[in-house]
Amino acid sequence: MRRELLSIMLLLCIIVFVVSAEEKPPRKAPPLPDVAVHSLGPQKLAPLPPVPVPPDNPQTPMKILLGKQLYFDTRLSADNNESCASCHDPAMGWSDKGPTSVGIKSQVGPRRAPPVSNSAYMPLQFWDGRADTLEEQAKGPIINPKEMGNTHEKMLETLNSIPGYVEEFETVFGKIPIDLDQVAKAIAAYERTIVTTDSPFDRYAKGDKTALTPLEAQGLEIFNGKGHCTACHWGPNFTDGRFHNLGAKNKEPMEDDLGRYAVTKNDKDKRAFKTPTVRDVASRPPYLHNGSEQTLWDLVEFYNRGGGDDDSNMDPLMVPLGLTKGEMEALVAFMKVAVTSNNPEVANEKPIPPDEFPK
Ligand code: HEC
Ligand code: HEC
Repeated sequence: MRRELLSIMLLLCIIVFVVSAEEKPPRKAPPLPDVAVHSLGPQKLAPLPPVPVPPDNPQTPMKILLGKQLYFDTRLSADNNESCASCHDPAMGWSDKGPTSVGIKSQVGPRRAPPVSNSAYMPLQFWDGRADTLEEQAKGPIINPKEMGNTHEKMLETLNSIPGYVEEFETVFGKIPIDLDQVAKAIAAYERTIVTTDSPFDRYAKGDKTALTPLEAQGLEIFNGKGHCTACHWGPNFTDGRFHNLGAKNKEPMEDDLGRYAVTKNDKDKRAFKTPTVRDVASRPPYLHNGSEQTLWDLVEFYNRGGGDDDSNMDPLMVPLGLTKGEMEALVAFMKVAVTSNNPEVANEKPIPPDEFPK
């Protein structure tokens, strides 16, 4: 009897332990092994796999077209002037001229627009990862007072008053009136088609050893080795999808931006921002969350110095690299050409002409 009681108590202890161990803070990136300096990342750089599609939002050609119309339609904003493409412009590498974004009534926002291209591969959205999915993300800018300045109710009222849209939404979703989830799903479906592949790097990784010039190949070697860039920019999309503080602190008059800390309230996340993809990076200067580095050369100098201003919370990987001028040139050549995709349909995507929107 006593032994039974003892084993029941032991079992209870184990259950309590397991349950408390499972209590995790919300919205954390999946745990990964610690990455040591100079090691390859947990995943090798590689060509992109097919884009992940959530089961509750399958891709269909009609939905993608509808999403494209919404993406370029300024009628989603409060003053009919801003669309998603105002800040995520295909002609500017799906970002904008920056340094940070300018939204409704010329208001300057606090952060730079990250590219929409390949965002479908990001495990979390925004510089601070505050949205889990593209669907959730797409609802934000419409009501951001510094972006499109609208309300969801007014935006839906507008869309429901346009017969062309009502008809399209009914065909795609089998249900009207148009609701917010449908809008978000259509936009996300379109974004999942904005994928950049077929760069010289991709051809090289698939076995074409002539795809990179000797200088670019040296740059890749430094990216993987002496520069330890792959400690954070690893895997097919050249990012770990996690958050790091590189010391790129805002200068006056910009307000201090605490980055990931705003989501987790964890001190070690202060001024940590999501690792961006390096794919197609040449098409969208300036760089970093605040646009503080003008060119790829400036950025490589920044890394070679060991990152930005001294910050007690800086990532331990931010140490001076001791790259020579020639090595820095190789790294820049790699990022300028080797990771630039050759998908004309994505790079040359044209905005929808005004008379082709649903009426
Ligand atoms: C006024 C400029 C502006 C407009 C308009 C705008 N965005 Fe953004 N977008 C940004 C900025 C700035 C960020 C980063 C904000 C942050 O991290 O806090 C961002 C982030 C994103 C991201 C996250 C990408 C990543 O890698 O984390 C996606 C996706 C995105 N926007 C899509 C859209 C869509 C879809 C629309 C239209 C419904 C839109 N944006 C409208 C400026 C804008
Ligand atoms: C400790 C992780 C880490 C390491 C190591 C690292 N990066 Fe980054 N990288 C980031 C993060 C995080 C950002 C965004 C930081 C910010 O905006 O404050 C970034 C930004 C960038 C950008 C700007 C992209 C854009 O769209 O703005 C480029 C390019 C880049 N890194 C290349 C490199 C290269 C080249 C190396 C190696 C010399 C390297 N990174 C090493 C994490 C890292």
